[in-house]
Amino acid sequence: MCGIVGYIGHRNALPIVVEALKRLEYRGYDSSGCALIHDGELQVYKRAGKIIELERCLPEPNKCTGNIAIAHTRWATHGEPNEVNAHPHLDCKGEIAIVHNGIIENYKLLRDKLIELGHTFVSETDTEVIVHLIEQFLLSETTLEDAVRSAMTKVEGTYGLVVMSLKEPDKLIAVRKGSPLIIGIGENEHFITSDVNAIIIHTKRVIYLQDDELCVVKADGFEITTLDKRSVKPEISVVDWDISAIEKGDFKHFMLKEIFEQPLTIENAFRGRINQHLGTARLGGLGIPNFELRKIKQIHLVACGTSFHAALIGKYIIEDIARIPVFAEYASEYRYRNPIIPEDTLVFVISQSGETADTLGALREAKAKGARVLAITNVVGSTIARESDGGTYIHAGSEIGVASTKAFTSQVTIMTLLAILLGRMNYLSTVKGMEYISELEKIPSKVEKILALNEYIRNIAATIKDCKNALYLGRGINYPVAMEGALKLKEISYIHSEGYPAAEMKHGPIALIDKNMPVIAIATKDPLYDKIYSNLQEVRARKARLITIATEGDTELSKISENVIYIPDTLTNLQPLLTVIPLQLLAYNVADLKGLNVDQPRNLAKSVTVE
Ligand code: AGP
Repeated sequence: MCGIVGYIGHRNALPIVVEALKRLEYRGYDSSGCALIHDGELQVYKRAGKIIELERCLPEPNKCTGNIAIAHTRWATHGEPNEVNAHPHLDCKGEIAIVHNGIIENYKLLRDKLIELGHTFVSETDTEVIVHLIEQFLLSETTLEDAVRSAMTKVEGTYGLVVMSLKEPDKLIAVRKGSPLIIGIGENEHFITSDVNAIIIHTKRVIYLQDDELCVVKADGFEITTLDKRSVKPEISVVDWDISAIEKGDFKHFMLKEIFEQPLTIENAFRGRINQHLGTARLGGLGIPNFELRKIKQIHLVACGTSFHAALIGKYIIEDIARIPVFAEYASEYRYRNPIIPEDTLVFVISQSGETADTLGALREAKAKGARVLAITNVVGSTIARESDGGTYIHAGSEIGVASTKAFTSQVTIMTLLAILLGRMNYLSTVKGMEYISELEKIPSKVEKILALNEYIRNIAATIKDCKNALYLGRGINYPVAMEGALKLKEISYIHSEGYPAAEMKHGPIALIDKNMPVIAIATKDPLYDKIYSNLQEVRARKARLITIATEGDTELSKISENVIYIPDTLTNLQPLLTVIPLQLLAYNVADLKGLNVDQPRNLAKSVTVE
């Protein structure tokens, strides 16, 4: 889950690739580097840490006017984050440079063979074997692309790879298997990138390279073939959004901007997909006619991280509204546990990025078992979107902050629409369906109201920012929201926090409670209110610092809570779209008050493209 970029054209390449790389930094920020050809020389610059460190060692752009360059920002898998392991990696003669996103599984074997053949390795990375393999094949192949083609037949693993050679300075070679790689088409210039974000200011015309495709990219054109040399007709897509979607605007962080975008993104997720008159929903992209959809007997919702929490909420909503058994599964477990997928089962994989390796693996596993697999994703053209049998885009717009926020509420909105659609085919009446639809339409303005509490929530955050641990509690449909709240705090503030079903406390975790333990509990008005109220009295009795999310007008919780955050009421099954907002803001403000890098938390990356 690194970010790679390449440029070849008529302009000065170095500033273009460095600017582009900055837009990929959310993919990994352990080290960065670039290589360019200038005055017949291959120049390489690498630094540990963020791209700003790299910029400090770069020559003035006017002193370095080469028209071909590659660059990389790293999320370390093999070899610690340092300058030697940073990309680009070079061959023994320093004439070929490569940048790579992915994992080479058989690198040890290849490395030993290449050392026997006299190659010298300088890094601990898996990637370095590729450039030495290419160097080796250039002894027998006539062109760089053919040497790359032969080298990749020896490699096992995943890669998005860009290769540059001093001997053939008029081309870049891009090759892909498993990791995303995109070609950007310009006027007498071309771009290569892991994500369109990086090149959108230059072009909106892109090609999503498929697995086992190799592209020879030149300033005035490109040619795509498969690794076994069959010609490929390029499919050009036009990106339908612009740079403002990936700018912070007046917000201090992308995460805060994305939290505040949710009234609009939730509406984007249900716009054109609700039918108020029939009290139902429509998800055209599923590609399954209703008479077939109503035969579905079981649903598997498979995902990772925050998307898994959306899946768990989907289980609660769909089972309650549509009365169909739903299994929410961690993709990394599902793909290797030989899951039982009976006939009439619909498998959904949920992924913001559409590139998460474990979720992609689960998709391929379910398809190998003959299941129909649909995707719920945010990235058009992503691997999961292309490999699924259909699905739904959540239309949340680009999500740059590593901690997922707006994508989560958009995923939950799609889960709600799916539940209403399937519900209306089973036991949900028109009237109840209409009630859900009209309440869903009110959610954006209710979220707006909660966002207005940001300053108040920041004051609460100040009271817990120095804590070492925290517990999040919820019951029923708010239990997965508690898990999501805990994940948000964990991943951006580094405070150890766990989400629990409130009633589970008595069976162990309550032992953790003392006067230093903040307990953040979702206790909104719903059928389980009295149950969670008594659970909270139990933790209050152990001196817990109770912070509660309550429904406006609640007069009881303030009696046992250190702080109460009041939110508008809504139907129980729609509550997660509201109850998660204060938890996102709480985590954001704790991390910001601690002066941490909220958008790029340590050790994380936006899309996890390795297992
Ligand atoms: C969430 O804030 C994290 N970034 C992470 O848990 C994420 O949800 C997970 O990696 C899944 O990503 P996906 O939705 O892009 O597949």
